[in-house]
Amino acid sequence: MSDTTKEGGLRTAMREFPANVWSSIFRNPLPSNDLERASTSFTNFFLHVHPVKVHRNTLRPLYTLGLGLMSFFLFLILVVTGVLLMFYYVPSTTQAYDRMLDLRGSVAFGIFLRNMHRWSAHGMVAIVFLHMCRVFFTGAYKKPREFNWVMGVGLLLVTLFLSFTGYLLPWDQLAFWAITVGTSIAGYAPLVGKQIQFLLLGDTTVGQEALLRFYVLHVAVLPLVLTLLIAVHFWRIRKDGGLSRPEEPARAQAVTLTVTAVAAPNTEKKKIYGLQGFVRGPFTKVGNVPDNSVFSWPNLLIAELFVFALTVAVILVLSLMFNAPLEEPVNVMHPPNPAKAPWYFLGLQEMVSYSAFWGGVGIPTTFVLLLLLVPYIDRGTGGVGQWFARERLLANTIFLTLVLVNVMFIIIGTFFRGPNWSMVSPW
Ligand code: HEM
Repeated sequence: MSDTTKEGGLRTAMREFPANVWSSIFRNPLPSNDLERASTSFTNFFLHVHPVKVHRNTLRPLYTLGLGLMSFFLFLILVVTGVLLMFYYVPSTTQAYDRMLDLRGSVAFGIFLRNMHRWSAHGMVAIVFLHMCRVFFTGAYKKPREFNWVMGVGLLLVTLFLSFTGYLLPWDQLAFWAITVGTSIAGYAPLVGKQIQFLLLGDTTVGQEALLRFYVLHVAVLPLVLTLLIAVHFWRIRKDGGLSRPEEPARAQAVTLTVTAVAAPNTEKKKIYGLQGFVRGPFTKVGNVPDNSVFSWPNLLIAELFVFALTVAVILVLSLMFNAPLEEPVNVMHPPNPAKAPWYFLGLQEMVSYSAFWGGVGIPTTFVLLLLLVPYIDRGTGGVGQWFARERLLANTIFLTLVLVNVMFIIIGTFFRGPNWSMVSPW
């Protein structure tokens, strides 16, 4: 008798096994009503970074262009492909280049992995920069988001440095000379320039010490710093009330009610109605107050999945079509002429060609300081949440001019500079 019960119990346990495993991981069924939609965002480790509801403006593709999310997803791709590359790479001047050749020739999907890492890194620098432009042109750095803008400037600098440190690792001619040029720009800083350069290189020239330092910064220190900054950046978005949006016309402001008690004429029992309080803003559903928010599940999640799929697809296609460059092994006796910094520092290199101090240190430092101060200098409240708002014409014009000058310098440096940094025609 007891055997039969045991067998029956076992059979039931086996039958319910998949459902029990599933429900032990996911506490809620797929949501079918508002309460469940709310609790899905609330109780899931990955989803609870979202608020239960977001404003409709957050999901307007033409508002954010998905650039912040793309930056984040590119970083994720970089972490995954970077860890895989670490299984093969050795940060030694005698081995690094050979390991690159191995990736190309004998490691399954090695070249593809390297391509994905390389194109995501370039993509991240460009997309983070564009994300900053979107935040500026929509006035999204204004109160209460000033500090998140400052966090963003930190993110931009760490992203640039992360990409720069990775540039050296293949240990080919391109890497060696780009970093030689890049670090010599740091050397132009007054008083501490040479010390900074020495701190970066661990020596007076680019060699084994520099390779090791760049490697440790690239695979451990900077990704950790970036992860921390991104976590604070996302947390601040929540605390600042979600993404910026245009101010909504005030509704359901103060209502003056003079009647506090109404007696129904033809009923025995008198009903008393009292005023309980005033409501304001879109999130409290009272009467016909329009609600401009939507549930994060599934609306925000679907939008995020779409941006993720798009980002991965673009990187995959690029990696299939174009191989990451690998030049000759390092030859310290044969500098290419001209030796160029990575493209995102070509604006600096171009300015350095006019004045080493101003181009390499003075102007970039002033520019970064101004960027950090932007939200504390521009205190006007108009035009937030709108692309190129009229009220922000002056600020937008100044910023756009600076962006275009930088882009122009990068184009000149990439295509129009030849031997000894002289002007050449690319055609
Ligand atoms: C690794 C780099 C970065 C990542 C992963 C990142 C990620 C994000 C994400 C996902 C959002 C929300 C969606 C969106 O606006 O697209 C956002 C918003 C924001 N980001 Fe970034 N960001 C980065 C760099 C920057 C930079 C360089 C700045 C400015 C200097 C910046 C300033 C802001 C601000 C102020 C917001 C709030 C925008 C609003 O409320 O409309 N971020 N960021």
